[in-house]
Amino acid sequence: AIKRHYTWEVTYGYKSLDCYKKLAVAINGMTLGPTISAVQGDTIAVDVINNLLMENVAIHWHGIRQIFAILKLHFLIKQRGTPWSDGTDGVTQCAIMSGEKYTYTFEVDRAMTYMYHSHYGMQRKGGLYGMINASVPGVTDPFNYDADHGIILRDWYHHSACDQSTALSSIPFQWVGEPQDHEMTIIEADRQYVESFVSKNLFIYLGETYSVLVTANKDPSKNYWTTINVVSRKPKTPNGLAIFNYLPNHFLQPPPTNPPIGPIWNDTNSQLNQSLTIKARKGFIITPPRKPDRIIVLLNTQNTINGYLRRSLNNVSHTLPTTPYLITLKQNMSDVFDPSPPPEDYDSTNFDIYTVGNNTNAISSTSIYKLQFNSTVDIILQNANSMIRNVSETHPWHLHGHYFWVLGYQEGKFNLLRDVQKYNLVDPIMKNTVALHPYGWVALRFQADNLAVWLFHCHIEAHFFLGMLVVFESNAEKVGDIPNINYGCGKNQSHGPAIVFIN
Ligand code: C2O
Ligand code: CU
Repeated sequence: AIKRHYTWEVTYGYKSLDCYKKLAVAINGMTLGPTISAVQGDTIAVDVINNLLMENVAIHWHGIRQIFAILKLHFLIKQRGTPWSDGTDGVTQCAIMSGEKYTYTFEVDRAMTYMYHSHYGMQRKGGLYGMINASVPGVTDPFNYDADHGIILRDWYHHSACDQSTALSSIPFQWVGEPQDHEMTIIEADRQYVESFVSKNLFIYLGETYSVLVTANKDPSKNYWTTINVVSRKPKTPNGLAIFNYLPNHFLQPPPTNPPIGPIWNDTNSQLNQSLTIKARKGFIITPPRKPDRIIVLLNTQNTINGYLRRSLNNVSHTLPTTPYLITLKQNMSDVFDPSPPPEDYDSTNFDIYTVGNNTNAISSTSIYKLQFNSTVDIILQNANSMIRNVSETHPWHLHGHYFWVLGYQEGKFNLLRDVQKYNLVDPIMKNTVALHPYGWVALRFQADNLAVWLFHCHIEAHFFLGMLVVFESNAEKVGDIPNINYGCGKNQSHGPAIVFIN
C-alpha cells in the first residue's frame, strides 16, 4: 500500500456538457472531476484548494468508511479512524472557505468503485463529483473480463445549484440495455459481489454503484445505442444516449437502429423486483447478527413547516447546526444542537400511508440518534404518500461510515411482528445506499462499529437540503485528535484558524 497525493483546485468554469453553456464547478478545470485510481489499502491524501470566489466546499468520499484496515482485527474502543475526513459540512468539519486549503486523508479500506462529491449545500448539482477506482493487489475478480470502464450517471440542470435550492426533487435513473440483445450480467453492487443475474435494464438509484459485464458479441461492423432514462418521476427531458462502440468503428459512427425506449417511469413493480433479486454472492456472504439491539422506524413524509415545504422523518425535519457535530461532541460543548432524542417511531396504528397526510405538527430539529458503540441497529424506512394525491416518491437512502444489510423490502405498511419473520438473514447484500420504493418499506441492519458522527440521508440532493436526513452518533468523544483545520466555524472560531491559502 502506498500514499497517493493529489492537489485539487476547485474553481468555477463555463462548461457545455450538453451543448448548453453554464457555470459549473470544476476540479483542476475538469467537470467531471479527475478519477482516483488506487489499490486496496492505499492512503489517499487530497489537498483541496477552494478557489471558488463565493462558495464554500466540502468533499465527501461516498462509500469510504474512514477506518484504517489494521483495526478490523481488533475490538479497540479507540480505533484509528479518520471520521474528520468524511467531508460533511456541519457534521464532521467546517466547510472549506474561499481561499482556504484543506487536506483529506483516508484509506481505501476495500476495493470497489466509489464516488466522491460535494457535501456542501446543493453544490453536487454544480458538477463537483468524480470517481475512485480501487482494485485488490494480486487478487482477480471471480469473473472474467477484458476491459473495465467507469460510468457516472447523473442529472445535469441548466439552472444553477443556487437557483435550485428550493427545487423539489432530483431523479433516480434507469439504465436501459441495448435493444439488439446486448445484455448485462450484474455482478457487484456497492462493493459487494452479488449472485449474478442477467438483465437488459438496470435500475440505478442516486448514490448506488454497480458493476456489470457486457459481452461484445454482436455484429462488429456496427455501433449500438445505450439509453439512460429517468424513472420514479415523470420525465420531462429527453433520454440520455450513449454509443456502445465496437472497435475499430469510429466512436461517433451512428448506430443504424433507433435508440431503445425505456420502460415506463412509474413501473414500481419492476423496480421492486430488481431490489428483491439482489443477493450476496455465495462465498462472499457476510451473515448479519440474528437480532438487533435497537429498532428505529423512520416514516418518510413531505410536510410544511411555517409554510415552507420540508421533508421529515417521524415528523422531524432535520437541520444541521453551524458548528459541526463531531467537534461539538469531542469538545463537549453545549447549546449547539437540540439534546433531546429524536423519535424512534411514528403513530403507525393511525397513520395512513396511502393518503395525503395531515402532518401539521412537523418540526425542524438538530437532534441526533446516539447509538451504543458496536450495537446492532435496525432501521425501517417507511414510505408514504407525498403531499400530492396518489404520489409516493422513491428515496435512495445513503449511510455514511458503515455498510448495512438489506433484510427486506415490501409494499405497504411495515408490521414488526409479521414482517420480521420474512427477513433475509441468509444471504442479504451489504450496501451503503438503498432505494425506498413508493408506498413501501425497506429494513436495514448495521453494526454501529465506527466511532464518530455519521449522516444517513436521502441522496436526492434537494430532499437532503429540505431536511431528509438523520444523524447517528457513536462515542464521538473517543475519536482521535481532530485536525485543527476542521474547526473554525460556529462556536469554534476560537480554536485556531484554518490554514489560509493565498494563491
Ligand atoms: Cu454520497 Cu451524504 O452522500
Ligand atoms: Cu428523497
